[in-house]
Amino acid sequence: MSDKNIKLGVLLYGPGAHMNSWKAEDVEKDASINFNHYLNLTKKAEEAGVSFVFIADGLYIDEKSIPHFQNRFEPLTLLSALSTLTSKIGLVGTVSTTYSEPFNIARQFASLDKISGGRAGWNVVTSPLQGSAGNFNKGNHPEHALRYEMAGEYLEVAQGLWDSWEDDAFIRDRETGKFYDEDKVHTLDHNGKFFNAKGPLNIDRSKQGQPVIFQAGASESGRTFAGKHGEIIFNAASTFEEAKKYYDDVKTKAEENGRNPEEVRILPALTPIIGATEEAAEERYNEIKNLVTIEEALNFLSRYFDHFDFSGYPLDEPFPDIGEAGKNAFQSTTDEIKRQAKEENLTLREVALRETTPKSHFFGTYEQVADKMIYWVKNGAADGFMLNMHIFGADYDKFINHVIPILEEKGYYNRNYESDTLRGNLGLSFKENRYKK
Ligand SMILES: Cc1cc2nc3c(=O)[nH]c(=O)nc-3n(C[C@H](O)[C@H](O)[C@H](O)COP(=O)(O)O)c2cc1C
Repeated sequence: MSDKNIKLGVLLYGPGAHMNSWKAEDVEKDASINFNHYLNLTKKAEEAGVSFVFIADGLYIDEKSIPHFQNRFEPLTLLSALSTLTSKIGLVGTVSTTYSEPFNIARQFASLDKISGGRAGWNVVTSPLQGSAGNFNKGNHPEHALRYEMAGEYLEVAQGLWDSWEDDAFIRDRETGKFYDEDKVHTLDHNGKFFNAKGPLNIDRSKQGQPVIFQAGASESGRTFAGKHGEIIFNAASTFEEAKKYYDDVKTKAEENGRNPEEVRILPALTPIIGATEEAAEERYNEIKNLVTIEEALNFLSRYFDHFDFSGYPLDEPFPDIGEAGKNAFQSTTDEIKRQAKEENLTLREVALRETTPKSHFFGTYEQVADKMIYWVKNGAADGFMLNMHIFGADYDKFINHVIPILEEKGYYNRNYESDTLRGNLGLSFKENRYKK
């Protein structure tokens, strides 16, 4: 990559990404619905020059869901509140294209984008969990490839609606009484396979043109979608080789779609397990791992397999053959779990504990983790990272106070925002209006 500047985002997951992060002593127990907790983390990220905070989301819970998923904020509402108390950091929210309507969502993101002065981003997801269908009146849960087909049309509609008004359409001339120039408003008139939207949208564009599109497809249809539409693309690669393969594949797919690969940035998720020494990092890993019982770990694992019930299977025998379970949920994750279990001859207990608290590649001293990050970026596996903390307590401060300064010293990170829009800070161009003459 041409830019040595590592881009960082932070995945704000209530108390943390770990299923039992709420039990850790250095985090608020009610973090997932504690606005001050989110504000505090966002302010720390902004002081450290992080490009964006990111709010994940899902549309279905049951008794097996991660505890803090049972009670959490809706992303756009939370981001709107954060937008008024920050000024530089990007605000990225997850919204499903399977269970919403493009007109509403285009309008909500356009509003966030304007309220924040051009700092909004949308993580486009298709909703992996079958149970989501029960919360909406849209019929059965569509299968995986169909969900991506719907997402493609959805995005076309949303982006079309966002361009309803050219940037100089609103004249607001009190003398002539002309509020807008009728030649600069455009009606989409979309009548498609899945969606209808006449338009125009009743809000104009922001300082960055349109919100930034984030995406994390991992399956073939997901990556194809990413290559076509994604601007910031996440992945959950656990090794350099995997990340590099993903990077090359998605950049190639972007080029095949006639896009400039420099306008597509790839940010693998980075789950740091860090300490001043390797021993301290190991100690921290064990503390985090001990936050779960084996029953909880099995429940966590079952979520990837669309809540498949593992409870009847022997814990200390090889990972069971469960057929096609998981195919219509987190497809690539479940394929990878099955592959690793077979290759390494893992038992069900080992798989469950490992999945609940993976010992990430980004394990070690502050210096070691900073060097690994630089290695991935220098060698074409990443343009930056999405920080995914197991627990949002002391580890977050350690990353900000120790790892980021090492990246800065080595010339790979700049904490001074280059721009006041999210596009500007991510090195993406202003999104021109498609109707601009
Ligand atoms: C860092 C990261 C964050 C994600 N956040 C969400 C989320 O908030 N909600 C969601 O439904 N899926 C989320 N996903 C899942 C992806 O949208 C996607 O479904 C997954 O990577 C599997 O790829 P596939 O859809 O191509 O099978 C996330 C994935 C990654 C790697």
